[in-house]
Amino acid sequence: MLKAGVLASGRGSNFQAIIDEIEKGNLKASIELLITDNPSAFAIERAKKHNIKYLFINPKEFASRDVFFSRIADELKARGVELVILAGFMRIVRKPLIDAFPGRIMNIHPALLPAFPGLHGQKQALDYGVKISGCTVHFVDEGMDTGPVIIQAAVPVFPDDTEDTLSERILSFEHRIYPEAVRLFAEGRIEIDGRRVKIKGHPSVSSDIVNPPYR
Ligand code: GRF
Repeated sequence: MLKAGVLASGRGSNFQAIIDEIEKGNLKASIELLITDNPSAFAIERAKKHNIKYLFINPKEFASRDVFFSRIADELKARGVELVILAGFMRIVRKPLIDAFPGRIMNIHPALLPAFPGLHGQKQALDYGVKISGCTVHFVDEGMDTGPVIIQAAVPVFPDDTEDTLSERILSFEHRIYPEAVRLFAEGRIEIDGRRVKIKGHPSVSSDIVNPPYR
């Protein structure tokens, strides 16, 4: 059973989507710990409701961002975490955490990377005028949303979309592909080959909304 740790700063709906798949028995994993950098993150309420241990680590108490991330790494290691899931964690991960979990940190981004990295990916897509956007689950490196892509889902942008309507449409696909990526990892089917992520048994997986689940 895969031991996962989640890092979240806010609402935590992706965290919830993963909890739900675990509770339904579709994902053989356990969430050992939620770490947040925000004491009022709604993700904490979700952790409490599902009896998941949580920890607020205040970045202001650390001399540097590296020390902050090294503390996070220590907490995750102490609980035997094997996969770190960033779910709306609003910080760029620093080397001490990346080095502690090589190829074992995932993030979800609300755009089709490498387009529109950073904050407000949905608004960036709208402002640019693209007709298709989406979401991306990727491994985390030291850049901002630059690590190898695991799964993407394509989502149409409609002429009357606002940031809110597009965000909501994308979010419903985030909730599908993030648990899916964790499941593939838990099943040992993900291999990183340079920038390319190979999913065993599914060499053609490039993933969009018409892809069936990878079973
Ligand atoms: C999502 O849009 C995710 O793609 C981005 O941050 C948002 C987090 O939402 N990284 P939630 O906290 O999971 O509801």
